[in-house]
Amino acid sequence: MIMRTRRAALAAIAASASLAMTLSACGQSSEGGSDEKGGTSNKGATIGISMPTKSSERWIADGKNVVKDLEAKGYKTKLVYAEDEPDQQVSQIENMITQGVKALIIASIDNKSLNNVVQQAKDANIPVISYDRLILGTKNVDYYASFDNEKVGELQGSYIAEKLGLKDGSKKGPFNIELFAGSNDDNNTKYFFGGAMKVLQPYIDSKKLVIKSGQTELTQVTTLRWDGATAQRRMDDILTGTYKSGRVDAVLSPYDGISIGIISALKSDGYGSGSKPLPVITGQDAEKASVKSIKSGQQTQTVFKDIRKLAKVATNMVDSVLNGKKPEVNDEKTYDNGVKVVPAYLLQPVSVDKGNWQKEIVDSGYYQAGDLK
Ligand code: GAL
Repeated sequence: MIMRTRRAALAAIAASASLAMTLSACGQSSEGGSDEKGGTSNKGATIGISMPTKSSERWIADGKNVVKDLEAKGYKTKLVYAEDEPDQQVSQIENMITQGVKALIIASIDNKSLNNVVQQAKDANIPVISYDRLILGTKNVDYYASFDNEKVGELQGSYIAEKLGLKDGSKKGPFNIELFAGSNDDNNTKYFFGGAMKVLQPYIDSKKLVIKSGQTELTQVTTLRWDGATAQRRMDDILTGTYKSGRVDAVLSPYDGISIGIISALKSDGYGSGSKPLPVITGQDAEKASVKSIKSGQQTQTVFKDIRKLAKVATNMVDSVLNGKKPEVNDEKTYDNGVKVVPAYLLQPVSVDKGNWQKEIVDSGYYQAGDLK
């Protein structure tokens, strides 16, 4: 009896092995099956994409771009948004792992909340690409696709120094500046702020720039989840608390959504009309509302990051890894996540203002002129 059962089992194994060989010989190996080289074929596999929120235009575009590029490479996709809720992001990723995705592209909300779920991905042999924002504190992140984030901050800081006339020495100040930073759970925040302060700190030290509110440290100036309304409230408080006399000459803002909030607070306080011009105010992402604001002379600058290119980088990484190749990277030293230095491909950001938005944003096909009316 036992003998017969074993023999039957062996026969079944042999039959299924020969079926697998036949399929792969015909080049039809099923998802995750063996290919002719004995590797794993992921043709037509589903890739999971986890994005933080739909409340910002850029992430909606990121999702669309990544899906389009993966489909063009022959993959299926599953795209989810987590409404800026870290727990929701974790359960969405868990679901995608259960559903059998073959790779994950993740733009994290809270850089430290994903350790368990990326361990589950690792256990299921699913490679993880950190998209734009680095996941911290885990060995289970394979590659990082992003921009030169410190450079983003440098472009913002330099723009302020240049616009105020401090850079070429044509003006000596002192000028009043207020600082805003991004969400404290986003790893990019410290790079943006650090890059900007690298440029601004010497002017602060020599008293050419004065932070009248006294809120100088990163911990005092962050904006949870990059929320524009939170930034607006903080700017309101600074204006009432500190600027009964004197004016704000510049605001370091790390992101367009925050810039829009700051501008609302400034306008409620009478800036932007008559004898009280708006300060120099930076931004990031070239969101439509901010490019329009730049055109109409309210926001002064933004940092344009061509996320069409970011999607290409991330999807090429997935395609390489799933085909057993090493993805192209151009930085293997900057992004230490606390456990390992994550190999990265970093794209270059571009400073955009009234002088070059047409060339950078419209002529490049990023937006149509009609989108910005
Ligand atoms: C950052 C990203 C910025 C901006 C911000 C708010 O992580 O690098 O470009 O989009 O989030 O969404």
